[in-house]
Amino acid sequence: MILVLDFGSQYNQLITRRIREQGVYSELHSHKLTAEAIKRMNPKGIILSGGPHSVYDENSFRCDKEIFDLDIPILGICYGMQLMALHFGGQVEKAKNREYGKALIDLNGEPTLFKDTPKKQTVWMSHGDKVMAEPEDFQIDATSPSTPIAAMSNPAKQLYGVQYHPEVRHSEYGNDLLKHFVYDVCKCDGDWTIENFIDMEVEKIQQKVGERKVLCALSGGVDSSVVAALIHKAIGDQLTCIFVDHGLLRKNEADDVMKVFADDFHMNIIKVDAKDRFLSKLQGVDDPEKKRKIIGNEFIYVFDDEAEKLKDIDFLAQGTLYTDIIESGTETAQTIKSHHNVGGLPENMQFELIEPLNTLFKDEVRELGSQLGIPDHIVWRQPFPGPGLAIRVLGEVTEEKLTIVRESDAILREEIAKAGLDRDIWQYFTVLPNIKSVGVMGDARTYDYTIGIRAVTSIDGMTSDWARIPWDVLETISTKIVNDVQHINRVVYDITSKPPATIEWE
Ligand code: XMP
Repeated sequence: MILVLDFGSQYNQLITRRIREQGVYSELHSHKLTAEAIKRMNPKGIILSGGPHSVYDENSFRCDKEIFDLDIPILGICYGMQLMALHFGGQVEKAKNREYGKALIDLNGEPTLFKDTPKKQTVWMSHGDKVMAEPEDFQIDATSPSTPIAAMSNPAKQLYGVQYHPEVRHSEYGNDLLKHFVYDVCKCDGDWTIENFIDMEVEKIQQKVGERKVLCALSGGVDSSVVAALIHKAIGDQLTCIFVDHGLLRKNEADDVMKVFADDFHMNIIKVDAKDRFLSKLQGVDDPEKKRKIIGNEFIYVFDDEAEKLKDIDFLAQGTLYTDIIESGTETAQTIKSHHNVGGLPENMQFELIEPLNTLFKDEVRELGSQLGIPDHIVWRQPFPGPGLAIRVLGEVTEEKLTIVRESDAILREEIAKAGLDRDIWQYFTVLPNIKSVGVMGDARTYDYTIGIRAVTSIDGMTSDWARIPWDVLETISTKIVNDVQHINRVVYDITSKPPATIEWE
């Protein structure tokens, strides 16, 4: 395992990702980890990430100095290299200006981490301070016009530093550098693959669970589907899934989930038809936050009621991902919307948790899902919010409005897929704002609803841009919706990015 210590760089998760792509398992942990704790984790190498601070800032992040005496290879990146330089008596210069963007570095001799790469190469810099004098016993491995020590090392002590960011794609040979570090210096085996992960996890789950029973809330989303399939592979019928149909799902979604997991995977699934329960609770409510709270709470009550009927359950399976764990540690953001995930944990339940995906990133979960035989339309499903269509019907939720959103959404999805755009657009759906306008259809005046199309490109949903869907595709979608969905006489396209808007309208 390669341990990445987090000093707050925006690229820190990327380092972990790149190492895993080399076939080596890697974890990101706080820079506060003690040398003692690191020793117990027994990593084959340590990477000190970059960070936004200057080493001279009063409260800048530091690590336990004893990690430099553990006899474990260390690679310092950017801020990490400056910390290393400072620790060993080098000189770090406080920045007058930042250097940001591409730079050309020049190698000095044939440094270990640059084996078989060109003497001049493009790298990606993003730093303020820089190392101006290398510590004693260190050698300068690369220089750039503005950064005299772009890379340094002390091979005898297995200490390496780079001022640039090898984890970023713009650093042409960054992957090679990380590969040389993990294989040539740290001597990793390279046996981290999703197939191995399945075998290891199946065995772990079998050992943990024994003859006992596991409960899983299946929503049909990627994470809960993959958790269910993995645990089912390990313990078969000892797993029971509860699938709550709150009546706020997309067209055919509930039947599809049942077909895949009950019919094809032969899982034990209890499908709870709770549509009436949810709709009656939502009656007369038009405040978005209240709607979310009602749906989140009701989900827990329904799940609780069903779970109580089951006997002898010891474990609750959850689709927690690695990013959930990393991000919950640093979450300081203001609540813009209170997100509810269907499948959230009822707080007072007396179960032990099983979270077999909590070391994986989303794309690794997708790969795992495919390997487990889950069909593409689930594995590549676009994000769908826990409160479902209820937050795409603005204002009070009624059956009629849900039908309008559901039918128009189905047309949109079909046409986007036909146009071959379904993997390019991150998320796309229709929303029903609570407005009516005048139209003319078949020579008669109409006064009916407007439907909005929302389609965005994004990486993680935190920021997004509106998708440039070709006009002829938009035209087909608009015509079909107006013709086939009752009570729609106007279609509009939302061309706002996030920020300032959010992706969902509520
Ligand atoms: P916003 O609207 O906040 O959405 O820009 C960002 C992403 O989160 C999804 N979303 C939710 N997901 N429960 C969820 O599981 C929720 O309550 C929820 N609200 C928004 C949204 O679909 C988008 O992908």
